[in-house]
Parts: sequence; structure tokens; C-alpha cells
Amino acid sequence: MIGVLVSGTGSNLQALLDAGLPVRAVASNRDDAPALARAGDLPTASFELSAYGSRTERDTAMADWLQQHDVDVVVLAGYMHLLTPQFLERFPERVINVHPSLLPDFPGAHAVADQLAAGVRESGCTVHVVIEEVDAGPVLVQERVPVLDGDTVETLHERIKQVEHRLLPQAIEELLCAR
Ligand code: GRF
Repeated sequence: MIGVLVSGTGSNLQALLDAGLPVRAVASNRDDAPALARAGDLPTASFELSAYGSRTERDTAMADWLQQHDVDVVVLAGYMHLLTPQFLERFPERVINVHPSLLPDFPGAHAVADQLAAGVRESGCTVHVVIEEVDAGPVLVQERVPVLDGDTVETLHERIKQVEHRLLPQAIEELLCAR
């Protein structure tokens, strides 16, 4: 069963739900994440760092909550906090992220702006397994997205997201089928 972690608008969460994938729980690091509203009747919870003594304590509580909901695959759909090794050990090779660049190029939280600043003509998105090092785990699938003249961070990110919304559900479906 899938648990989805979100921090932002949740359009990738929506794509997973629309694809009919077995999402069983949605969690966030922010009480006010707009994405939580997309979860409908699914159980949701937020784990604000300020409510815990450390990142490890917070991640332990979040992993406990996910496993209580039978989650064994965790999808980071715009989850904007680093996960601790202790969290990753709870779901070995089963924490998956979607990132708006052709990794290993342009890792990090500002990938779209960084690509525009670098003047690349080709962007893309990557679905990969999460390891401790940021945006560095094994790639499951990637797809190219053109950068167009006059693109802003918003227009380019939106074009990338359109591809993410197809690629992420496909990659997760294949992962579930391969088990
Ligand atoms: C996506 O572009 C994803 O690649 C990145 O964060 C964004 C999340 O968007 N990690 P949304 O919240 O799913 O709309």
C-alpha cells in the first residue's frame, strides 16, 4: 500500500489518485499544506518539526503512522524536507521521489530556477529511489521536457509537471507489479 508525503499543492498526489493507485495515507511536514485537501476520505496527518525534539523523532513518528496504515511504499510528491536515514531504513528501497530535472543534473529545491539560470534548452523530470544523499538515488525513469523561449519558472515548471503526472503513476504501478 502507498503512503504519499506532500508539502505543496499536491498535483502529483492527485495524479496518483486519478490513476487508481492504492494510496492509503497522506502525510505532510506542514499543517497548512494545500495538498492535504486533495486526500478526500483518506487518513491524513501532519508532522511539523516544531512539535518534536528532533528530525529523527519526527520521522520515527511519521514512519510509525504510515506503517499503522499498512504503507510499504512511500512516494514523495513534492515533499520538501530531508528524510533521516532512520526513516529510509523503515522502507528499504521503497521511498520514491519525483524531481523536476534530468538528474543528476540540477538536484536541490530550486531545480527549475537553476535550469533557467543556466540557460539549458532541455529540462525534464526524474522518478528515483530515495537515498540519504539528496536527489542522488537510482533512477527508475526519466523524460525530457523542452525549455521554450520566454519560459518563466512557472511556465517551465507547469510543463514539467504535466509529464510528471503521467510518469510518476506509471513508475509506481511498475514498482508495485514487480514485487
Ligand atoms: C514537483 O515538480 C516535483 O517534481 C517536486 O515538487 C513539485 C511538487 O508539485 N519535487 P505538486 O505539489 O505535486 O504540485
